[in-house]
Amino acid sequence: MTAIQRTLSIVKPDGVQKRVIGDVIGRFEKAGLRIVAMKMIHMSSSDAGGFYVVHRERPFYGELREYMSSGPVVVLVLEGHDAIALTRRIMGATDPAHADPGTIRADLAESIERNIVHGSDSVESAAYEIPFFFSAMEIHGG
Ligand code: CMP
Repeated sequence: MTAIQRTLSIVKPDGVQKRVIGDVIGRFEKAGLRIVAMKMIHMSSSDAGGFYVVHRERPFYGELREYMSSGPVVVLVLEGHDAIALTRRIMGATDPAHADPGTIRADLAESIERNIVHGSDSVESAAYEIPFFFSAMEIHGG
């Protein structure tokens, strides 16, 4: 039996710019996930740095902060059975060159940085990432 989980997803600046917000969230909904919170925001570099703090020692951290604050993004909370792993399957591998055909990143992304979409990678990450953007009152679970 799989648990009902919540996961945090972001349609990144390249996804907003390419006008694929609807395509991305449509794929999540068609897979049975429920959107329980959603908004469009434009992060500062320090917001993006706080969100990705787990990567602070990585060589790409500075570029990631800059990129994620380069334009508006759509942040959303998805709820459903095994939502964390399911979302990651729908997104495909981080690097679109390695993503399975039919996944969001294989179909729409151009590089490991401009990879259209983010999804929490574990229960622990989701527990950090969801309240980073949403208060309890902004989440409308069933
Ligand atoms: P995401 O799932 O949002 O989590 C961290 C992000 O860092 C990842 O997607 C990529 O967009 C980015 N990232 C991971 N590895 C690299 C890399 N080697 N070079 C540039 N960006 C990376």
